Amino acid sequence: MPESNAQDLRWEDGVPVSTRFDDPYYSRDDGLAETRHVFHDGCGLPERWQNSSPFRIAELGFGTGLNFCATLKLWRETAPAEGLLEFVSFELYPLKAEEIGQALSCWPELRDESAELVEKWQPLNGVMDFGTARLTLVTGDIRETLPIWPGRADAWFLDGFAPARNPEMWEEAVLNGIARHSNPGATLSTYSAAGHVRRGLAASGFDVRRVKGYGRKREMINAIKIPPD
Ligand SMILES: C[S@@+](CC[C@H](N)C(=O)[O-])C[C@H]1O[C@@H](n2cnc3c(N)ncnc32)[C@H](O)[C@@H]1O
Repeated sequence: MPESNAQDLRWEDGVPVSTRFDDPYYSRDDGLAETRHVFHDGCGLPERWQNSSPFRIAELGFGTGLNFCATLKLWRETAPAEGLLEFVSFELYPLKAEEIGQALSCWPELRDESAELVEKWQPLNGVMDFGTARLTLVTGDIRETLPIWPGRADAWFLDGFAPARNPEMWEEAVLNGIARHSNPGATLSTYSAAGHVRRGLAASGFDVRRVKGYGRKREMINAIKIPPD
């Protein structure tokens, strides 16, 4: 990874904050509770993966791997017999293993998953094996990597930094690409409730709902890909 892609971090009360985007990686209140509310409940997990294998989750923004580790734990607790989980995450500025370990050390309940992630971490287009789950990191700018990604997802975690600070992750072309790479009935969730994100998702073929956000956030977005006629 070129030096210019180094993600400059600062730590505020144990929470990693991107200096480049001036935004925290997750809620300062409780990132794990936020992941569960926004992404697990928002995408209908674990119910949705009971009847579909392999089940593929695609994430915009791997960051510290908090969403991945929390999802791996939920998967291991609830996976259907013989089920396989593919977790694909798009990331332009991969963190170092030590930074991931430091961030995730706040959650003792993720100790096993975070230790495994740190041990297996391959930041450059890595494919990492976690038994019945597999993590693929697609390294690069989402605007270049999503159009050439050959896959389709059953669930999407949209977790870029705030749209005002990281507009590249929420561009109309990216939202259209998400729709094109969705299986019918794919679920999508994000902590954001930004109007242009809602409108862009609706225009690209999602049924979009505003629901209660995590903690102090009034609203966030859940959506389902409408199957073509
Ligand atoms: C809010 S953080 C993600 C938090 C993460 N899901 C977690 O569990 O820690 C947003 C991530 O998006 C990445 N990002 C920002 N712009 C990007 C782009 N154009 N393409 C791909 N990734 C990008 C950042 O490097 C950062 O890791």
